[in-house]
Amino acid sequence: MGEKCVQRPQSHMRRKESGLIAGAMMLALLTSVGAGEARATDASAAPVTDRPMVDLRTWPTPEIDLSTLPDTEQNRMIKFGQDLLVHTSEYLGPEMADPSKRYAGTNMACGSCHRAAATVPYAAPLIGTYSVYPQFQPRFGKNVTLENRINLCFTHSLSGREIPEDSKEMKALAAYIEYLSRGVPKGAKIIGEKEMVVEEPKRAANLVRGEEVYKEQCSVCHGDDGRGKRVGTVGDRKGYEFPPLWGPDATSESASMFRILSTFQYVYVNMPFGQATWDKPALSKDDAYDVAGYVVSHPRQPREGEVAKDFSNPYDKPEDFPWGPYVDSFSETQHKYGPFDPIRAEDAAAREKLKKEKANSAASK
Ligand code: HEC
Ligand code: HEC
Repeated sequence: MGEKCVQRPQSHMRRKESGLIAGAMMLALLTSVGAGEARATDASAAPVTDRPMVDLRTWPTPEIDLSTLPDTEQNRMIKFGQDLLVHTSEYLGPEMADPSKRYAGTNMACGSCHRAAATVPYAAPLIGTYSVYPQFQPRFGKNVTLENRINLCFTHSLSGREIPEDSKEMKALAAYIEYLSRGVPKGAKIIGEKEMVVEEPKRAANLVRGEEVYKEQCSVCHGDDGRGKRVGTVGDRKGYEFPPLWGPDATSESASMFRILSTFQYVYVNMPFGQATWDKPALSKDDAYDVAGYVVSHPRQPREGEVAKDFSNPYDKPEDFPWGPYVDSFSETQHKYGPFDPIRAEDAAAREKLKKEKANSAASK
């Protein structure tokens, strides 16, 4: 295809050095990526045939020990952004003494999902994320900015409320994501982003088996009751050693981690922690699917208010979105636990039909 794989130059491959890249060197790096590939200024304007490709599975991991970064204003923001991502509850969690600082509705951190300070392929890494926004998102039916997307994780994943776009916290998170994204050209297609697309078993999840897998493989860290394990004690703002998977301090029911396929794809290549990697999953697909079903079968903070407007166009709903109305004839239960192929087939037919109707009405005008 027309996509070219961008290689990060060899001199930036060593972890120690990559943290020290100075602005001038970055300019040189971007130029060396190829003027033709990096010229587009936003993702939507990038011609599809000329889209650079970055593969995070081989891309050198940016240095996350930021202690050697020179003490500049910008670098202080980058460091604060990383700290905020890893220790979210200490700055913006529900246990903040100042109520106006309680933005996150749980004591989880961004890093509870964006693993190793957001650098692990297929664990929603934020390497390159700075280069791919603004971007169209079906959840909203419109283009969203990086700041909008960060706030989406505040309102959905952290069951909280939006932080102001001009706040120091937002600027710091964006600065850290910019740091992680250095060398990734604007509009790049990124391999290894978000979760790994893995085909699920062609059946409904088996929650009885899921519970067995959970007890054998997960409860040692996440607890029999799914509540996780705090670093310290309630009220100390220190958050979690092992984040909760359900219950009142977990993600909300609007988060993608409340959907079975996202959870399956995340768990399959990331959990159990310390065992699974994207190239060497630890669980079978069947076990990962069943345990994901078991995890999402438990309630969390309810989906209400603004976030309940997600996917207001039912044609854009992901197949595992557990709230109707749908453009197909399947129940919310089947949308929650599968099997998904029959849903996909009907949804594709419905979209095709809509497309034809639109084309016809345009032609008759
Ligand atoms: C409960 C897990 C979870 C938490 C907590 C969480 N996120 Fe996310 N985040 C995800 C997942 C999963 C995705 C990818 C979803 C998708 O498929 O689009 C994502 C996507 C993103 C993206 C877009 C990435 C891309 O590739 O387009 C940004 C930016 C982001 N998160 C920032 C944050 C920040 C900042 C925080 C903390 C304030 C946070 N997230 C907290 C799970 C989480
Ligand atoms: C050895 C401890 C350990 C085990 C065992 C383990 N996890 Fe985790 N899990 C973690 C840690 C720690 C994180 C936070 C991410 C990180 O630090 O890399 C996490 C994060 C998660 C997340 C995303 C954050 C959230 O709270 O939603 C999910 C989902 C998850 N684990 C599911 C599972 C499932 C399912 C199993 C069993 C198959 C499992 N984990 C086994 C330690 C563990």
